[in-house]
Amino acid sequence: MPREKNTFYVTTPIYYVNDVPHIGHAYTTVAADFLARFSRLKGFDTFFLTGTDEHGQKVEKAAATANQSAQEFVDRVGGQFRELWGKLGISNDDFIRTTEERHKKAVTTLWKTVAEKGDIYLGEYEDWYCTPCESFWTEKQLVDSRCPDCGRPVEKLKEPSYFFRLSKFGQPLLEHIEKNPGFIKPDYRRNEIVSFLREGLRDLSVSRTSFSWGIPVPGDEKHVMYVWFDALTNYLTATGYPDDAKRNEKYWPADIHIIGKDILRFHAVYWPAFLMAAGLPLPKQVFAHGWWTIEGQKMSKSKGNVVDPGAMADKYGVDAFRYFLLREVPFGLDGDFSEKALSGRINADLANDIGNLLSRSVTMIEKYRAGKIPAYEPSAEREELEGRVKFLLAGLPAEFEKSIGELNFSEGLSKVWAVVKELNAYVDKSSPWKEKDDAILSTVLATLAESLRILAVYTWPVMPSSAQKIWESLGLGKSIGGVRFDEAASWGGTLTGLKVNRMPPLFPRLQ
Ligand code: MSP
Repeated sequence: MPREKNTFYVTTPIYYVNDVPHIGHAYTTVAADFLARFSRLKGFDTFFLTGTDEHGQKVEKAAATANQSAQEFVDRVGGQFRELWGKLGISNDDFIRTTEERHKKAVTTLWKTVAEKGDIYLGEYEDWYCTPCESFWTEKQLVDSRCPDCGRPVEKLKEPSYFFRLSKFGQPLLEHIEKNPGFIKPDYRRNEIVSFLREGLRDLSVSRTSFSWGIPVPGDEKHVMYVWFDALTNYLTATGYPDDAKRNEKYWPADIHIIGKDILRFHAVYWPAFLMAAGLPLPKQVFAHGWWTIEGQKMSKSKGNVVDPGAMADKYGVDAFRYFLLREVPFGLDGDFSEKALSGRINADLANDIGNLLSRSVTMIEKYRAGKIPAYEPSAEREELEGRVKFLLAGLPAEFEKSIGELNFSEGLSKVWAVVKELNAYVDKSSPWKEKDDAILSTVLATLAESLRILAVYTWPVMPSSAQKIWESLGLGKSIGGVRFDEAASWGGTLTGLKVNRMPPLFPRLQ
């Protein structure tokens, strides 16, 4: 995790309200939630933002189809995202809606600042527009007369428009990317942006007159601002821009914008260019994750294969679903979703590995020590077995932090699970049920309890309620979320004498 300041600001994209929440939305949001939770464990003053993108032609059309005013429409449908995040245990600190007053003020201020610097001018737009993507295209860029990004039909636009002098920022952006290799991640995505920039940039149309659902251009209210100019600014709005300078300085620039690969150009080209034009600092990192296909197919409404994250959480459990999303595929790459893969993961990693480790440990502490966690009694003869467990746990914080710092959740979790597997093997090797020596038996049980305590800390960012259950099974009171990673992840908690609590299986095996 980046460490110049003691703060950490992480964002998700703001989602279009006209769509039902799907696995793609849940993916980014769960990943951001992991980072926010881990950052809090590290003791950083954390700000985690998500929200909804409520303006634009696409939303205006959806409202018209629903026979409602745009405002009524966004008020009605926008709630589904909040509801879902509540269900999925998302710990966002703020939820921004672009129809809020604070946001209108921020966008208007940013526009005026850029305009005063001379980087917005009035012209006429004559080219193509893709409404589903809310993006502009030249004739040459079209593929078979359709949008090169999504393949859907485009419409011809000819209207007066304000332009942002994007062409001026190609070179400065290339220089920024060169000086800051961490700015766009993964590296293969950075390379795509570098090639795109090297081709040269055209000025960007940033206002529209043919519809009205948006923030008016200051001083020329026939125009509404381009929805991406409006939407991207949300990241600044939530820091208190422009009124609360103190708070803005505290959190801006964002440490990381997490987005999907399809909206990288907006975040890695347009957004930094707007900020440069306004003389504001650029976000430290933009990370583009991959896309989920569904049983090998592109997810789409017309195919009827849209995965509803709420339904998955109901059927398989919130924590299991969160774990699957982050464990299954390296963040950055595309992955394939199927319920078969999900239940396979649940049985292997959750039921067999961590769930089994917890239940057998608690059962043995109950059986052999009347439910009280015994003291660790070191003995030279046994050092090899416990020594190996301690050695693995001692190396884990640095290993885990390295993976998480690179947003490689799947690698970080697999490192943790390697230890879980070793611990199950340790139980088999030690065979406490055959042990005649009291001191050795106590040591094995104490080792298991202490290891589980540490493992609970690592699992909290991905499976908060299961981590809390492990915590309580070990007789620990309070919320696990209040611990500090640097202490809590190291050996030497004082569990001796605590009374374990047996609970129903954390993750029942699925048939
Ligand atoms: N409103 C814009 C973002 C503005 S941010 C200033 C937007 N909204 S969206 O509702 O379409 O959300 C898109 C997010 O969902 C993107 O990050 C996109 O990559 C992600 N996904 C959409 N389908 C996806 C998959 N099939 N798989 C993974 N993520 C996917 O774009």
